Amino acid sequence: MKNQTALEVHNLTASYQRKPVLWEIDFKVPSGHLIGILGPNGSGKTTLLRNIMNLMEADSGYVKIFGKDLDEVRSRLSYVPQRESVDWNFPASVREVVEMGRYRPGNLLRRLKSSDKQKVKASLEKVGMLAYADRQISELSGGQQQRVFIARSLAQEADIYLMDEPFVGVDAATEEAILSILSGLRDEGKTVLIVHHDLQSAYQYFDWMILLNTRLIAAGPKEAVFNSTHLREAYGGKLNLLSKLGEIIAREQFPLREPDFKEKEGSGDE
Ligand SMILES: Nc1ncnc2c1ncn2[C@@H]1O[C@H](COP(=O)(O)OP(=O)(O)OP(=O)(O)O)[C@@H](O)[C@H]1O
Ligand SMILES: [Mg+2]
Repeated sequence: MKNQTALEVHNLTASYQRKPVLWEIDFKVPSGHLIGILGPNGSGKTTLLRNIMNLMEADSGYVKIFGKDLDEVRSRLSYVPQRESVDWNFPASVREVVEMGRYRPGNLLRRLKSSDKQKVKASLEKVGMLAYADRQISELSGGQQQRVFIARSLAQEADIYLMDEPFVGVDAATEEAILSILSGLRDEGKTVLIVHHDLQSAYQYFDWMILLNTRLIAAGPKEAVFNSTHLREAYGGKLNLLSKLGEIIAREQFPLREPDFKEKEGSGDE
């Protein structure tokens, strides 16, 4: 169902060693959108996903998935962690890694059916890694490993996909292929949240955006979020170094609006 609330983050504050790295984050994401999570290094993007996945305890606030706690709907979520945080030396073949996407909590010992195996195969094919199915994951290049993790996520057939910088280390053709898969999921009504650090491509890639810098700068349809006021607030003086904002503005010709998103909260389709 498009535009029901898929994800709600309410007044979330989270810390490492008592130092808050997310501060009173509050937004709702409607289903059926491809959403970019943007912000400078250290702005809390990964921490936000970890909180959504209940991988760390928040100081305050809560996260609801389709109005429920994560434990009730865990199998409807799929998470691809940031590359650096994965131990790529664990002994498993490419196929076994993707098969993990077909197991459900509480059902770990069941044997995979042939329909599961088909799904695994189709997912590997989608990311162009079927030919590597019998290789050890540790023996692949960084970009190939990333593609296998994305295949595992696709095999899960979730309703919400959370991916932390999935395009890091993949070549341009693969990036385009993965983006088209993710857009396809969105078109099927799935909700796809992607941490992305490239401002140059962000406006083209996503229809919704969440802009972070410890605090929430803005969340909503990209036209309301991606403007110079918000980007300066998020990136500050680093913006000139990171990207040529002027060029992006000229190229995309997005309307320069005041931060007035509140009135549109919860609706992605105007
Ligand atoms: N395990 C940890 N222990 C202590 N501090 C941490 C830990 N993980 C992250 N931090 C700190 O929390 C802040 C937010 O980190 P986070 O990884 O969420 O940022 P990010 O936006 O994902 O950055 P990047 O773009 O570099 O991936 C940073 O200041 C970081 O140093
Ligand atoms: Mg990160």
